[in-house]
Amino acid sequence: MSDKSKIISGFSKLSKQQKIDWLNSLTSHSKADAILKEQLAPDPKTQNIFDGLSENVVSNFVLPFSVAPNFLINGKSYCVPMVIEESSVVAAAASAAKFWAMRGGIKTEVISTTKLGQVHFSWDGTSEELHLIWEELVELFLVATEDLTKNMRARGGGIKKIELKDFSHIEPDYYQILVSFDTKDSMGANFINSILERIGDILEDFVGSHPQLKHHNLEVIMAILSNYTPDCIVRASVECRLDKEDLPHCGQSGTMAFAKKIQKAVRIAEIDPYRATTHNKGIFNGVDAVIIATGNDFRAVEACGHTYAGRNGQYASLSHCEVTETTFKFWLDLPLAVGTVGGLTTLHPLAKLSLELLGNPSAEELMQIVAATGLMQNYAALKSLVTTGIQHGHMKMHLSNIVNHLEASPAETQNILEHFQEKKVTFTAVRDYLAAIRRQKV
Ligand code: MEV
Repeated sequence: MSDKSKIISGFSKLSKQQKIDWLNSLTSHSKADAILKEQLAPDPKTQNIFDGLSENVVSNFVLPFSVAPNFLINGKSYCVPMVIEESSVVAAAASAAKFWAMRGGIKTEVISTTKLGQVHFSWDGTSEELHLIWEELVELFLVATEDLTKNMRARGGGIKKIELKDFSHIEPDYYQILVSFDTKDSMGANFINSILERIGDILEDFVGSHPQLKHHNLEVIMAILSNYTPDCIVRASVECRLDKEDLPHCGQSGTMAFAKKIQKAVRIAEIDPYRATTHNKGIFNGVDAVIIATGNDFRAVEACGHTYAGRNGQYASLSHCEVTETTFKFWLDLPLAVGTVGGLTTLHPLAKLSLELLGNPSAEELMQIVAATGLMQNYAALKSLVTTGIQHGHMKMHLSNIVNHLEASPAETQNILEHFQEKKVTFTAVRDYLAAIRRQKV
């Protein structure tokens, strides 16, 4: 088959079985059909939900659903659901959470909850002309979107601010309407986008029929929410007395040295973008895992977090650390636009269960849980990095993956786990050891 002969029309209209048959014709993997079917939900009702979430669904891609207990956040304890495939992430989060639960727990606070959207447009008149009609326009936008905002207003949310931004000094004729929203417990993407599109239409109509302005050109380029929400911020922090409590692995004598090493590690991520990227990736190991488990949009959260990390002109650490003679303080400020109603949060059975496990939190409470998990993940990573090194814990957890990969029997697995308890774990070492066991048996 030439590559062109693999182009197919009407694929989306085929039944699931027909799609799978077509895929089978592409691969030499004789078990492709069986593998795809093995991963389908046994209950057709559940599979129907997944089929409806995307297009051309031929199977499900299953990831581990884990829980990390012992999160004490503002005095309330949580068992945090996490969806992540990377070994040791959940263990690290749970262990850090327990450690800090013994030291007063994690404090969190929602600083702001504003979500944003933009109507980008071009205008070949002057900025002054736009400003002359601006007040009238804002009033019009508010009135003409009343039907869309009614329910949200009843819940205490809605449009908070509508601003005109002039970028024509950077890009000829380019202006923007920046709209601030409070979407309460919903992520609000559909709500925001519907309002923005309505505002765009009104803008074009109003200017197009305005006696003094209609000779100019106004064109809406696009209307879409912004995933950058620097005013939707949550802070998570932990703090302990260095003169009264000890930090891990050190006992009282090594506590100050450990605290200073953590502080230095954070400082490095504050000044070096290469380290900051990895440092923040560790934070998002925790953040994304909870975001996915609760049916939220991890791409949006990541995109926003990384832009925020670069807000001062250089990409930098999202977490910070302060050490004094007596106190260790470690905290994280994170922009988090999340929802606990609507969308996947109610559709996906596990997302629904996750929210139930968390006590059906409001969006603000979920922001705090997510930030707390990111902070614990970051603390756990730094603790390992400045003490044993990351590979120590990582490879221990990875051992079970290697053993699975090598298809060791239960007895061989037991033997391998015991053998590698105090030894360095590498893929080659485990493979060779398994081969040796098998040779001995023969
Ligand atoms: C690995 O997934 C995450 C870490 O690299 C984070 C870090 O270096 O801080 C361990």
